Amino acid sequence: MRQVGWWEALLVVASAVADEPRYAEGAATFQANCAVCHRANGAGNAGLAPPVIIDAPRFAQTSEGRRQLAMTVLYGMYGEITVGERRYNFKMPEFSRFDDATLAAVLNHVLFDLAHVDAGIAPIEAADLAHERAQVVDGAAVRAHRATVVTASP
Ligand code: HEC
Repeated sequence: MRQVGWWEALLVVASAVADEPRYAEGAATFQANCAVCHRANGAGNAGLAPPVIIDAPRFAQTSEGRRQLAMTVLYGMYGEITVGERRYNFKMPEFSRFDDATLAAVLNHVLFDLAHVDAGIAPIEAADLAHERAQVVDGAAVRAHRATVVTASP
């Protein structure tokens, strides 16, 4: 039998590490609750839901953008939005039944594992979710807030 060279073993380890999500619990939540609409890789579905890997990484760079992400998963969103030059007008369900840590992990999975944001960006914290949970809004208000952060995001 052929011996496996050390460099081959290293490649196997490296690719296993690359595939391993940094936010494993967030990944499990995403696969079970979000992938049906946004697809497992977050690239979205033209007739159903926008990609979450285009604007979410931009939003992660400003405090209002980070609030937007927390609001979207807590309260859902409806009304027309444009993502990556394509228009969407469907309803994002609300996920307020999940606790703050679970929602933070799912957003971090989107940002760090799917969208590969810069490692220098701070992860979303459970406290960020708790802050938005304390001020209830509806999906129309979430969309209105989105319109303000789209222009302010890098
Ligand atoms: C039933 C389909 C559906 C499911 C399930 C779903 N979404 Fe969405 N999501 C949408 C739709 C539709 C929109 C856009 C809403 C609009 O057009 O206003 C959206 C928008 C978003 C956005 C905002 C994207 C942007 O550019 O502003 C994020 C982030 C997001 N979803 C994350 C998630 C996460 C995380 C989950 C799972 C916890 C999830 N979604 C589950 C349909 C879904």
